[in-house]
Amino acid sequence: MNENRTALVTGGARGIGVEISRQLAERGLRVLVAARQLEAAEEACRTIGPGALPLALDVSSAKSVTEAVREAGELTGGGVDVLVNNAGVSLDGELRPPYVDEEVLRATLDVNLVGAWRVAEAVVPGMVRAGYGRVVNLTSSYGSLALMDSGRHPAYRVSKTALNAFTRMLAGELSGTGVLVNAADPGWTRSGMGGPSAPRGPEEGADTPVWLATLPDGDDTTGGLFAGREPLPW
Ligand SMILES: NC(=O)c1ccc[n+]([C@@H]2O[C@H](COP(=O)([O-])OP(=O)(O)OC[C@H]3O[C@@H](n4cnc5c(N)ncnc54)[C@H](OP(=O)(O)O)[C@@H]3O)[C@@H](O)[C@H]2O)c1
Repeated sequence: MNENRTALVTGGARGIGVEISRQLAERGLRVLVAARQLEAAEEACRTIGPGALPLALDVSSAKSVTEAVREAGELTGGGVDVLVNNAGVSLDGELRPPYVDEEVLRATLDVNLVGAWRVAEAVVPGMVRAGYGRVVNLTSSYGSLALMDSGRHPAYRVSKTALNAFTRMLAGELSGTGVLVNAADPGWTRSGMGGPSAPRGPEEGADTPVWLATLPDGDDTTGGLFAGREPLPW
């Protein structure tokens, strides 16, 4: 039942995001591949092939989110059925609590938390009206309170903990609507953020997000945090 479904992948033109876009297109979804630069999205769409449509989207700008969702409607003639909030930044330097780089903290939260929230606000009401939706938030084990044992990457960690909280709240609000909301940790994956020595390739990193984005009709998996398709402690 993936045909006729439309997915929006934020940061979908490179890193784990382009692999998520590719795998969703392979499963028969129409995929809106979003990047801050339209040319980057167009280039990614050429490599993915038919079913991929380029979109300019900067999740740190409310105006860009509004314009992108309007453009998505014009391109597809419909709404977004599947949202993958993949866009993310990791900006921390060496500072650890109690020291704080406020600029880094705000910029990180603006993309990793508020960005995901902004895009959800723009597309989830349409999912609720349609009685179908899948929202996947790309998080990290670094955001797990249960596993939090140091202050390395503090802004990044806090942003993903907050994104996890947003995932739980949104899932609770949407219970029974047909919209399933989950968080996916791709694991340490080779990409711009993960670097070249990460043990996992993009295909493996994209697996859990794509699984959650394509949960079949009748599935009631929602409000969860998963890595390797298995639950991870919050
Ligand atoms: N790689 C890992 O080991 C790892 C581990 C755990 C979690 N994650 C999470 O997985 C997700 C993807 O990470 P990645 O490894 O693929 O990172 P990456 O290679 O650094 O790519 C980051 C992506 O985020 C997009 N992005 C950044 N700021 C944006 C903004 N303001 N608006 C829209 N898009 C923006 C970029 O889009 P542009 O093309 O426009 O620059 C790019 O597509 C992130 O949420 C990350 O936190 C990654």
